[in-house]
Amino acid sequence: MTQDELKQAVGRAALDYVIDGEIVGVGTGSTANCFIDALAGIKHRIKGAVASSEATRKRLEAHGIKVFDLNDVIDLPVYVDGADEINVEMHMIKGGGGALTREKIVAAVAKKFICIADGSKLVPVLGNFPLPVEVIPMASAYVARELARLGGTPVLREGFVTDNGNLILDLRGLQIVDPVGLETQINQITGVVSNGLFACRPASICLLGTATGVQTLCAD
Ligand code: 5RP
Repeated sequence: MTQDELKQAVGRAALDYVIDGEIVGVGTGSTANCFIDALAGIKHRIKGAVASSEATRKRLEAHGIKVFDLNDVIDLPVYVDGADEINVEMHMIKGGGGALTREKIVAAVAKKFICIADGSKLVPVLGNFPLPVEVIPMASAYVARELARLGGTPVLREGFVTDNGNLILDLRGLQIVDPVGLETQINQITGVVSNGLFACRPASICLLGTATGVQTLCAD
């Protein structure tokens, strides 16, 4: 199977976690897009969706799926999203598409986080994928200096502005042995909006696309 076919397989598999008559939280990226396309086939069974980015909102609406403002939603049983890296403890690096802050907000509201990923995303140690950090523009140089003190190399994502009007620093060269500690530490830097470590609130399960089928993983 190609990587695209694996993404489609996990996108379809995630439909099993969507609750009839409820609102579903929807992530951002190519794997989340596969979920959105699959969700279109059962749109008559759900109340609607909450989007984690403008791109996702547009794709949902193009399929005729009603998109709710998160502020109007109290119960969100499930959030479905991809990841750039995930470990066996269900800690993730996200934000390759730059939507990390809204993804983290929607995930925070949801009861369950269903991560969908092709097999290449499962790693023993997080950090090979550069860790995205969303920053307030006027703080970017200061935050970059502070991030460098953590041992990595921050690189400004050129020509990119988030849906929130902010910038992204991609922190390269880290071996993240304590994802919860690092997520917390980066959040303490003034000017940081959020960072792409999803460890304090890990995925509930991961649907991993492999050559032998979709595997369901959860933390020990
Ligand atoms: C976007 C994300 C995505 O979930 C992550 O980048 C994975 O994307 P893809 O499914 O295209 O590999 O966090 O901000």
